[in-house]
Amino acid sequence: MLKIIPNKKNIGAELICDLNKINNSTLKKIKSALSKYGMIYFRNQKLNSDNYLKFAKKFGKLANYPRLKGLNKKYPQITVVQRKSTDKGPSFGEQFHTDSIYTKKPPRFTMLLSKLVPKKGQANTDFCSQYLAYEKLPANFKRKFKNEKCVFSSEGPISVTRLEREKEKGKKAKELISKHNLIRKINSKYTLYCSPGHFIRFNNSKIDKKLKTYLFKHQVKKSFQYSLEWEKNQLAIWDNRSMLHQATAFKGDRIMHRITVQ
Ligand SMILES: [Fe+2]
Repeated sequence: MLKIIPNKKNIGAELICDLNKINNSTLKKIKSALSKYGMIYFRNQKLNSDNYLKFAKKFGKLANYPRLKGLNKKYPQITVVQRKSTDKGPSFGEQFHTDSIYTKKPPRFTMLLSKLVPKKGQANTDFCSQYLAYEKLPANFKRKFKNEKCVFSSEGPISVTRLEREKEKGKKAKELISKHNLIRKINSKYTLYCSPGHFIRFNNSKIDKKLKTYLFKHQVKKSFQYSLEWEKNQLAIWDNRSMLHQATAFKGDRIMHRITVQ
């Protein structure tokens, strides 16, 4: 049994089922909901790490996140995204971005399973549909951006929190840079593929700063957004190619188990 409750404007959807007990036909429906809504979430899931990995593998080959260590030796592909109430400065991922866009083959999907969360509504993840962003882009900009590529870096504006942590630990990671088409076709729909958190420049030097400002402002319009409120034992999956996401600023303790899929 699977129930699908789309969010407003179809930006994401809640799916109701027990992920420990899904058959092939349910899995098919889950995958199709993910491609349709860009982000899906499931509440009240009692998934242990073995079953979490097993579920994630149904979506493709698991990726190794180049920036965070695995949970432990047994589960290197589950990374822990943790914030403590004593932590200062911004949270990890506190600007709209898409994961690992600075690699040649960024992961298609990211999953987060909440293990410990502050009060509901106090530490959300905002999602922003880039299918909608493309759809609402005026025709002259669609033309302008048609064959454009953008260059992204792991040292982009969002990396400040990671760099702070590296400074504390005294170890600096190597900068990763990659170039991608700004407009992509995913699941037979066009999407804007640009991560403001990692952007360095357009590939075409003729494109000016004003255009970048316009693009960034357009991409993250409130009308393309949905803010996901976390509860404990909630799993969210999103398509990194068609959804931007960001952590909202919060104080408190939070532990998320993260898996990315190639
Ligand atoms: Fe992220």
